[in-house]
Amino acid sequence: MLNDGGVMLRELRLQDAPSLLAHLNDARVLRYIAPCPSTVEDFRRFIRWTRAERRLGLHACFGIIPPQQTTPAGIIQLWPIERDFSTAEWGFVLGESHWGTGLFARSARLFLDAVFFDAVFGPRGVFRLEARAVDANGRGNGVLRKLAATREGVLRGAFRKGEESRDQVMWSILASDWRALRGRDRRVN
Ligand SMILES: CC(C)(COP(=O)(O)OP(=O)(O)OC[C@H]1O[C@@H](n2cnc3c(N)ncnc32)[C@H](O)[C@@H]1OP(=O)(O)O)[C@@H](O)C(=O)NCCC(=O)NCCS
Repeated sequence: MLNDGGVMLRELRLQDAPSLLAHLNDARVLRYIAPCPSTVEDFRRFIRWTRAERRLGLHACFGIIPPQQTTPAGIIQLWPIERDFSTAEWGFVLGESHWGTGLFARSARLFLDAVFFDAVFGPRGVFRLEARAVDANGRGNGVLRKLAATREGVLRGAFRKGEESRDQVMWSILASDWRALRGRDRRVN
């Protein structure tokens, strides 16, 4: 569990399914990302899967719990590109009622601090964190820019949804970037 005194990131629980459905099953939210579960039961299945994958060390999924609330309004996921997580990718989504409030940026900073300072993923931590955003996704690209990610290039036709095919922007954050940005070195536990 990660907490900055207001926002909390924690592993998903089965009881979170109705809240996730209410926040995320929305055409505007899903416009530029892969489809998400569309019923409470499908979300329960997804939550069970995230918990099983986490135990196997294959994937991590955090619910974003807004201040003074107990259920998630969004999620942040992390999965390996290299098997040891030295290069990993993250993906994220938040309910539209929270867009533009700063909730996601706070959540992202909590998450990135855990990834790059606490080295909780993989035997040696994550050195390179990738994110892909559909080129037309103003908010997705905007928030990555705001988090000081580096725009590396365009992956042509990398996003496919039904008949639709779109270009994606590849963004990266290196551990050294994040530590320099936050003005401190890796924590020694
Ligand atoms: C991506 C997401 C989590 C970001 O959360 P958010 O609360 O909307 O993000 P913020 O408002 O803090 O930041 C977005 C930034 O993009 C900027 N932005 C918005 N539309 C933009 C556009 N068309 N072009 C350029 N910048 C844009 C905003 O001005 C803002 O920057 P600012 O705070 O400096 O003004 C949220 O929008 C979301 O869940 N979207 C749907 C799912 C998704 O796209 N996930 C990302 C996949 S990469």
